[in-house]
Amino acid sequence: MTVTEHTQHPDHSRQSDHTGQPDHFAAGGEALRNRVAELLTATRARSTALTDAVDDGGLVAQHSPLMSPLVWDLAHVGSQEELWLVRDVGGREPLRPEIDGLYDAFQHSRSSRVELPLLGPAEARAYVAEVRDKALDALGRVPFTGSRLVENAFAFGMVVQHEQQHDETMLATHQLRAGAPVLHAPAPPPGRPPAAREVLVPAGPFTMGTSTEPWALDNERPAHAVHVPAFHIDTAAVTAGEYAEFVDAGGYDDPRWWSAAGWKHRVAAGLTAPQFWERDAGGTWYRRRFGVVEAVPVDEPVVHVCFHEAEAYARWAGKRLPTEAEWEKAARYDPASGRSRRYPWGDEDPTPEYANLGQRHLQPAAAGAYPRGASPLGVQQLIGDVWEWTSSGWHPYPGYEMFPYAQYSEVFFGGDYKVLRGGSFGTDTASIRGTFRNWDHPIRRQIFAGFRCARDAAPVEGA
Ligand code: AVJ
Ligand code: FE
Repeated sequence: MTVTEHTQHPDHSRQSDHTGQPDHFAAGGEALRNRVAELLTATRARSTALTDAVDDGGLVAQHSPLMSPLVWDLAHVGSQEELWLVRDVGGREPLRPEIDGLYDAFQHSRSSRVELPLLGPAEARAYVAEVRDKALDALGRVPFTGSRLVENAFAFGMVVQHEQQHDETMLATHQLRAGAPVLHAPAPPPGRPPAAREVLVPAGPFTMGTSTEPWALDNERPAHAVHVPAFHIDTAAVTAGEYAEFVDAGGYDDPRWWSAAGWKHRVAAGLTAPQFWERDAGGTWYRRRFGVVEAVPVDEPVVHVCFHEAEAYARWAGKRLPTEAEWEKAARYDPASGRSRRYPWGDEDPTPEYANLGQRHLQPAAAGAYPRGASPLGVQQLIGDVWEWTSSGWHPYPGYEMFPYAQYSEVFFGGDYKVLRGGSFGTDTASIRGTFRNWDHPIRRQIFAGFRCARDAAPVEGA
């Protein structure tokens, strides 16, 4: 518990940060080491699948100016793992100090990386394997005590999350790649739209962020009380079918629905529909996903819309996007206990019953597909399926402290970024939770992002 959690609302004694943690943290030592090893291995299996899916030409090619060549992501993952786990935590000498600069994301733009003397496919694979051997050696011998970096195996958790984030980035590169399909996965479970379209989230303070989640990144900290006025939020994300109604009603031609910046971008970029959508002569919408062209699935959350498109749809629908605090309150607040949960369903880590995560399915699931993942207030699919745009900019919480490096969160604070929450089908389980914060430019569409709508609630007389 931090002091900031209660300074503003000292009389809300039941309100608190969650205390529930997975057993491997409570048990400490061996259980945690095993859990880390499992996560490192499972995550590497995904990185391998994403890179083995294309030939060497496909690995070194630039599939989009927005993305790195896949072979860069792979070696960059190894490079970060070497910096944190082999050199820093492990105390070993650099394996290949001469390549550090090539894989520093701040030295070269994504669109210029293809021109660098990068490790080739075979070299990159050998490099990440060698780094992994040495990281596992460190995992076996370094005590999890003595510094914040190793406490609760934080550095290992950070490196797992980093690789998982790049797995999602590589998945976005696959989506942008032209050519025959190379990735395959079973369809997600079907769903029936939740009975209630929206729920009322009552006014009052809740605990936002966390001071107790062991692998939370610096920008999620610390836990602090936020007072949120009453609002309504949709129980499901906006579906592709609903979004198509906006498109077909001329939503892209009517500046009334768009902010000034949004309209400017809509015109300049010539936006007419979500990315990867195309209409046939008969007016039916099709979309391309991982090389497969099929009719737009109307009951799935819309995906590949930018912030401006999300905002325009919400205004057309007579609603608005939720703020980041509203989103987190809808996801974590338990009115019965006053506590904020780790996830909408409770404090338990994600499993396939709760959410569509981890690239098990290569598409968002229909609205209502994960009723067990609902929040106490009945809001569904907040975790998984699609990242959700919020109306909030990317700022630090009160009491934010950079840890362990400024280039993850801090250098992006301010800017034109908008916060996204909840993760997508492409996000892996260690990299998402009720407190996790993502951000991107408001014009970005290649990420697996959609949105849900909210609206103000009428103030209660005398309340
Ligand atoms: C948190 C998704 C915005 O991909 O730019 C990966 C994550 N940071 N390597 C990004 C990240 C460094 C980051 N996002
Ligand atoms: Fe990175």
